[in-house]
Amino acid sequence: MELDLSGFNTRISDDMHTWEEVSLLYNSALKQITTKIEILNEEFQEVHRYNPIEHIKARVKSPESIVKKLKRNGYESTIENMVRYVNDIAGIRIICSFTSDIYRIAEMISNQKDIQVLLVKDYIMNPKDSGYRSYHMIISLPVYLSDRIVNVKVEIQIRTVAMDFWASLEHKIQYKFEGKAPHHINYELHECAAMVASLDARMLQLNEEILSIEAEK
Ligand code: GTP
Ligand code: MG
Repeated sequence: MELDLSGFNTRISDDMHTWEEVSLLYNSALKQITTKIEILNEEFQEVHRYNPIEHIKARVKSPESIVKKLKRNGYESTIENMVRYVNDIAGIRIICSFTSDIYRIAEMISNQKDIQVLLVKDYIMNPKDSGYRSYHMIISLPVYLSDRIVNVKVEIQIRTVAMDFWASLEHKIQYKFEGKAPHHINYELHECAAMVASLDARMLQLNEEILSIEAEK
């Protein structure tokens, strides 16, 4: 990855000094959380003969996007500010089949002793005005370096395949219109979000029926 450090002051906090160090920590945190989630998925497959997770995507936010976000929120571009105020430098997205899987996965993650849940935003119970639905968690987990342990924040987004389909298209549209899409497009998107919610509910119900038939056998 090409790194532009011109926007950052270096040597700021005791724990993290340079973008290289910060980047190493966030990448390490992402590796750990990805492994944890893969283990949970494999164990679930073993015990329940069923895979709650379709796939996982992990990314570290680019320095350009971090600087942009800090600027947008009125903060100077320093390492200290990015570590303190940008919660989604390390981000992981978990895509699953059913809404019930989302809460199951969120609970399994929260129950891990070394994971601290800092913030939960349930946009499934409370969808955004755009119609956006997903379950968000900001967690912190320890990364073990040679001489110290650093707690690193990770944003986890958990959503169904259908929610992900909607969010990708909506994101693309908002990007194209720089967040100012025509009213009828926003209206259509909102309608589609309602259809996605109803599809998720019906698919969940179908799956539960199938499970109960299997259980009777
Ligand atoms: P950001 O500054 O965008 O990170 O938002 P935030 O700090 O207020 O947190 P929030 O939980 O609202 O959103 C975090 C992330 O969720 C965003 O960066 C997007 O990836 C996703 N997200 C939130 N709202 C929407 C939305 O309306 N549409 C889409 N497509 N994604 C969204
Ligand atoms: Mg974000």
